[in-house]
Amino acid sequence: MTLLSKRVSGIKPPMTREMTRLGNELAAAGRSIMSLAQGEPDFDTPEHVREAGKSAIDSGKTHYTDIPATRELTEAVIRKFKRDNGLVFKPSEITIGVGSKQVLYNALQATVDPADEVIVAVPAWVSYLEMVRIADGIPVVLPATAETGFKIQPAQLEAAITPRSKWLMLNSPSNPSGAVYSAAELKALAEVLLRHPHVWFMSDDIYEKILYTGEPFATMAAVVPEMASRCLTINGVSKAFAMTGWRCGYAGGPAELIRGINLVQGTSVSHTSSVTQAAAIEALDGPMDFLPPFVAAYRRRRDIVVAAMKSIDGVTCTVPDGAFYVFPGCKGLIGRRTPKGKTIATDMDLCMYFLEEAGVALVPGSAFELPDHFRISYAASEAALTEGMKRLARACADLK
Ligand SMILES: Cc1ncc(COP(=O)(O)O)c(C=O)c1O
Repeated sequence: MTLLSKRVSGIKPPMTREMTRLGNELAAAGRSIMSLAQGEPDFDTPEHVREAGKSAIDSGKTHYTDIPATRELTEAVIRKFKRDNGLVFKPSEITIGVGSKQVLYNALQATVDPADEVIVAVPAWVSYLEMVRIADGIPVVLPATAETGFKIQPAQLEAAITPRSKWLMLNSPSNPSGAVYSAAELKALAEVLLRHPHVWFMSDDIYEKILYTGEPFATMAAVVPEMASRCLTINGVSKAFAMTGWRCGYAGGPAELIRGINLVQGTSVSHTSSVTQAAAIEALDGPMDFLPPFVAAYRRRRDIVVAAMKSIDGVTCTVPDGAFYVFPGCKGLIGRRTPKGKTIATDMDLCMYFLEEAGVALVPGSAFELPDHFRISYAASEAALTEGMKRLARACADLK
């Protein structure tokens, strides 16, 4: 008998972390590495939020809380959904977990039976497929390429739906492509879903605030109210408030679904830290004036990366409308040889070449289920990005 369960033995660790780790290893050995693999803001948590965390510790908010969270945080989340998205929830329709990652995980655990299918629009964040598998579900990938702006099309969705389809998982703005679905595009997908009432919609809105379109952010439950009774709208404080380490995510959805999610959570971690909960209230209710400068900085960085990528022979690049990633195509580099005589056969080979020879850590597109691409995270300083782009241009020019 093997120690590890069948469920766990096929699970791959997240490639984003793996490439970051490899880069850190080379840096520790004295190499100059531009680390553009990790998807987290390089800004600090705003000061008023940090202060709220400190005062929670000093005022003794250090005990177990209700499951899934305190009444105060639940109310702050309800206010957020109303204010930002026009969505109205009762406390019984809110869950709060240890990052939005845990909310996604809990939702799949609570709803997926063996052999249920979960439709995942790809390229998708590395963890989606593994989360479906660990819930004994079957991931059904719907590829969206640069030709459609990395957005799935209604006909494609229609063709993928079967009687076993449980969920469609969609992330906008997208990690890794930066694609943003407009209200009209969501409505077109909803037309399909409304014909198939057994399919639920999981809306991962974690990059909501990092948006460059000038249009208001669109989320399914708000733009198509008939879909709200089978939508789980997921968000969190990690990306907008630079609070990745605090671990707080939340979601709103129908009470029965939330009840199931909270059962999973109550059986595992109970709740996120009481200190984090206090800080998250301050984040959600507090001033947002720190945000426009963050977004403006991201936008400048995006433009640096996109301009650099567009000038490289063999690389194609679309302009992302949100999040902090650029997802260039590298088909034109596949088959070329490195100065050391190695053939670049895959996007993984290319990323290893970039890491080892150019000192730039990136993540291959295959990690997001769309090979022949790579992801650059521009949540890094302009100096690191400018140097990283110079190195990538040189490394690509060296491929023959
Ligand atoms: C698309 C997407 N969803 C969810 C998460 C999880 O974020 P957190 O658990 O920090 O809220 C991430 C983090 O990288 C992400 O990229």
